[in-house]
Amino acid sequence: MCGITARVGGDGSLEPLLSSLQNLEYRGYDSAGIAVQNGRGIEISKFEGEVSKLESELADRDHDGPIGIGHTRWSTHGPPTDANAHPHTGCQGRVAAVHNGIIENYTELREALQERGHEFTSDTDTEVIPHLVEERLADGLDPEAAFRDAIDQLEGSYAIAMIVDGEPTVYATRNGSPLVIGVGDDANYLASDVPAFLEFTDRVVYLEDDDVVALTDGDHRITDADGDPVSRPVDTVDWDPEDAEKGSYDHYMLKEIHEQPVALRQTLHGRIDGDDVALEEFPPGSFDDVDRVQFVACGTSYHAALYGEWLLSKDGVDATTYIASEYAASPAPVDEDTLVVGVTQSGETADTLEALESARERGARTLALTNVIGSTAARTCDDALFIRAGPEIGVAATKTFSSQVATLVLLAERLVRDITGSPTSDHADRLDALASLPEHVESITTDSRAADISQRCLGDNGHFFIGRGNAFPVALEGALKFKEITYGHAEGFAAGELKHGPLALVTPETPVIAIGTGHDEARLKSNVTESRTRGAPVIAIAPRTASDLADVAEEFLPVPATHPDLVAILANVQLQLIAYHAANAMERSIDKPRNLAKSVTVE
Ligand code: F6R
Repeated sequence: MCGITARVGGDGSLEPLLSSLQNLEYRGYDSAGIAVQNGRGIEISKFEGEVSKLESELADRDHDGPIGIGHTRWSTHGPPTDANAHPHTGCQGRVAAVHNGIIENYTELREALQERGHEFTSDTDTEVIPHLVEERLADGLDPEAAFRDAIDQLEGSYAIAMIVDGEPTVYATRNGSPLVIGVGDDANYLASDVPAFLEFTDRVVYLEDDDVVALTDGDHRITDADGDPVSRPVDTVDWDPEDAEKGSYDHYMLKEIHEQPVALRQTLHGRIDGDDVALEEFPPGSFDDVDRVQFVACGTSYHAALYGEWLLSKDGVDATTYIASEYAASPAPVDEDTLVVGVTQSGETADTLEALESARERGARTLALTNVIGSTAARTCDDALFIRAGPEIGVAATKTFSSQVATLVLLAERLVRDITGSPTSDHADRLDALASLPEHVESITTDSRAADISQRCLGDNGHFFIGRGNAFPVALEGALKFKEITYGHAEGFAAGELKHGPLALVTPETPVIAIGTGHDEARLKSNVTESRTRGAPVIAIAPRTASDLADVAEEFLPVPATHPDLVAILANVQLQLIAYHAANAMERSIDKPRNLAKSVTVE
């Protein structure tokens, strides 16, 4: 779980590489490094710490060249130290390599290399790569053949970029980790993700597993594992470089919370047709053969998937949600009539990919619900449905959750119609409300008391988020968002569960945040009263019309009145704002919470 980048061509690689690394920091930020090739050989600079530290260390150095590679790290093997930072080189310093992923057989490879006299300077799995390549170069192989020979020996998941002293080429490959080429006018680029080089070019080539790339300043030559040429299309992405920058906001997270109306408009654009959905990818009848749906997902996406399960179940479709990391180990039964939906904004989460693979191997039909065209999930599943939220940089997912749920409302309509033969109950009103979701979210992002109310949630013993029905997944999501960026203890519960245990923890020092949607409101009101009786400050979030909750809660944060099936999406925006403002008041590292990374490509 790291970001890799490379650049060939133009006057100097250093500045563009540093800029690309800044854009990739969401993938990991505990160490950063670059290697450039110039007339003096390969020069490597790498440090524990963020890219800004690398940048300041390099300010006094004459360290530039026309070809370079860079890396931003999230530790998997070995703690964050200068020695473990990438790029890595071999004994002779002829090769420098950066890697994202895990080399599973690195222990055997390392021991064998050590027996042959190689000395290692880091604890990483990556370091075996330059040693293997240098060994083959010493045997007389040319750089590309040496690179191929080395990767043939690797087991695991990886995206690798490598430079060789005296060679005008970056060699790269991928297997299970993302890698994309940027085709520029004066220089070519490689990176784990498009935002890395979006300020330089919008022309991209998504690579497939086992592709081997030889990137020079005027060309990108792609071959398969056997060395045969393969052709991959050059796509033009329509993301504005501004989209991948913070703009006037203090944090990407706040920017992305405010981007939700735009993201939702993109999500829904052209997909609602009167009282039906118009999914280009899935015309009516696409799911006629499906008789049950399983969702696999992690973290925030798991909560979106639970929302999707709720939407399907209420209209009679057999639907279950699984934590992806548990699914592969204890797989639920599937057959060819089972649709397994991987909900993953990045499309690269290893646990989700593994769960989808397990379902596919056992004959299920798979569908990726993702934000990233060209992601592994999108390419490996039978079908893909894109949430179209635009790039999300903040580690805490915000706009992608809203767009995931909105997409699930659309998908649920198609599935329910195809599987049961009837539309969802109340479909016309619900789709009408869905079309208005962007403006409803906008009314919250432009006018919310969440910043004031968040001050009630600073430094308490615990924070409990409760909801019923579709507000239950949002209670879980509210708690996850709060804990990941404030580092405060937070838990989400189905409101009815409070009295079965958690109520023992409720005191005047444990704010309770209750989410009302209109479903089961009277019982939620009882749960709020139970909490108030124990002295807890209760903040209720619900439509303005739900004055009952406003009466019993200490604080009331309204959301616009809309269809009850969608209220929880609006309530979640208030929860995002509460978490953000509480974390900001505590001066937390909001866009890069400790120990977390945006794209979790390890299991
Ligand atoms: C939390 C968060 C994570 C991700 C999870 C799955 O804010 O973003 O919990 O939701 O790591 O990621 P994706 O959706 O990329 O599969």
